[in-house]
Amino acid sequence: MTDRQLTIDYVEYASVEEMEPKDRELVAAAHEARAGSYSPYSRFRVGAALLLEDGTVVKGANQENVAYPSGLCAERTAMFAAGANHPGVAFDTLAIVGANGDEVCESPAAPCGACRQVMAEYQRLFGKPLKIILIGSRRIYKFSKVEDLLPLIFDSLKF
Ligand code: THU
Repeated sequence: MTDRQLTIDYVEYASVEEMEPKDRELVAAAHEARAGSYSPYSRFRVGAALLLEDGTVVKGANQENVAYPSGLCAERTAMFAAGANHPGVAFDTLAIVGANGDEVCESPAAPCGACRQVMAEYQRLFGKPLKIILIGSRRIYKFSKVEDLLPLIFDSLKF
């Protein structure tokens, strides 16, 4: 028996001003994307902005439904829109912000497991790391690859 540890790497910013201009723009786009949230049940408004390698930014916002499981998170809304409308264009960076009503969470809202799994799929498809920015009002985290949010990614299927 062997005890092992996995570590994850990320950068923490105290404010958006510490970030490079390209990331700052994506943070602003994620905030804008919150306007598209349809969340009458949870009132939790999530915006996502996905930068593609050709410079396109695809926005997404959570879409809820009276049959609760029929809704979709902001991150997957953005990723699936990009996959459907810009096929073959690699994902570069995904920025996410969550707010209770209009109040942005102080600590960054972390993506759900299903969204992390979808990130992992696109990262593998494009063969390049997908960076992720989690935005809070008091701190911002940046991850340089999906493995830091989803260790031990399922990758065992032979196809
Ligand atoms: N939500 C997201 O959009 N992204 C996440 O990663 C977690 C949760 C949404 C789903 C639902 O509309 C609301 O937040 C409350 O769970």
